[in-house]
Amino acid sequence: MDLHSRYPAIADLARQAQRRLPPFVWEYLDSATGTEATKTRNRAALDRVGFLPSILHGPLEVDLSTTLFGEKLPLPFGVAPVGMSGLIWPDAEGHLARSAAAAGIPYTLSTVASQSPEDLAPHLGEQAWFQLYPPKDPDIRIDMLARAKSAGFKVLVLTVDVPVASRRERQMRSGLTQPPRLTPRLLAQTLANPTWALGMARRGMPHMRTLDKYITGNLGNLSSTAHIGYLLRTSPDWEYVQWLRDHWQGPIVIKGVMRPEDAERLQDMGVDALWVSNHGGRQFDASPATIEMLPEIRRATTLPLIFDSGVEGGLDMLRALALGADYIMLGRAFHFALAALGEPGPAHLIDILKQDLKSNMGQIGATDVTSLPLTRTLGPAHQL
Ligand code: FNR
Repeated sequence: MDLHSRYPAIADLARQAQRRLPPFVWEYLDSATGTEATKTRNRAALDRVGFLPSILHGPLEVDLSTTLFGEKLPLPFGVAPVGMSGLIWPDAEGHLARSAAAAGIPYTLSTVASQSPEDLAPHLGEQAWFQLYPPKDPDIRIDMLARAKSAGFKVLVLTVDVPVASRRERQMRSGLTQPPRLTPRLLAQTLANPTWALGMARRGMPHMRTLDKYITGNLGNLSSTAHIGYLLRTSPDWEYVQWLRDHWQGPIVIKGVMRPEDAERLQDMGVDALWVSNHGGRQFDASPATIEMLPEIRRATTLPLIFDSGVEGGLDMLRALALGADYIMLGRAFHFALAALGEPGPAHLIDILKQDLKSNMGQIGATDVTSLPLTRTLGPAHQL
């Protein structure tokens, strides 16, 4: 089967994923918060970023590589952290870590993923990043950082845009509870999606394995790890960032930065990069689009900027790279690819993104992702 003719774009992978997943899993993956205005705004604002088409430049040799934390990376994009990804596809973390390692791009493991740093250690490449939902207890913090480090994670990502849990109404409507409970309704949805159900049955119900150790040791016999994820974590403050800076020797990235003044202050504290993100619209429904804040944040700091939220192809990456991002991450898209195609999904997505980058770079006469032409603000697109 020629994957490119059946699934030429992320939208095709998303459609196929929706067909293959039980509705409650699809809603967990795809949903945002509120009326999803922020998610819509991310898309609309990206669509307004244009370039002038370039002509008469002759054949171009395109280079997709870039440099981050002093290391050369072959592609300007990687895998964002996604909690409970094992619920989306069996062994999602393993598949993603291996595909990212094969392509030489970053893979970020979430604290609340369904596999632990130790599980993933044999599958990691050079670009292994660990995302921290910050534990309150200092002993747990120190232990978690040590575990991430000895498993081979080099970059630490502190997520700061989840000061409290958000409401995801679509998810709630689908019958998914916090903590997840297998109700008759969810069971019926599961049985109607046999590929997914069989995969899960083979591996057992996913749960948050990184946290297992602390749950038995600290919280007695509370039964749900999903709920415990929230009990263990704190809402970090500036001192917490300082504490991390003092306890982690490698690069630290702060994820969820949307204010230029926060960018300045974080740079002064000695972090290594900022991840400009509105969590794909999953946290706050009155947030500006990530791409709208990027130029101001670029002006406020000289730190490398990582960008995510709503990236649906190579053109979106070029838009963000041209407006000041140094690196791009995708969350949902990698999971659409897995749910649509299973193990070959992530490699196919990487291929789509490479081809789309090259094709659009040809249109704007760019040979290098680190020096792109100026953008132009476009008017609304009208569909006939
Ligand atoms: C996320 N995201 C996320 N971020 C994080 O720091 N820790 C986490 O555990 C999670 N979990 C998570 C679950 C799911 C299902 C999704 C879709 C997202 C946010 C993620 O890292 C990233 O910021 C967004 O997904 C980016 O937007 P796109 O690429 O999905 O549009």
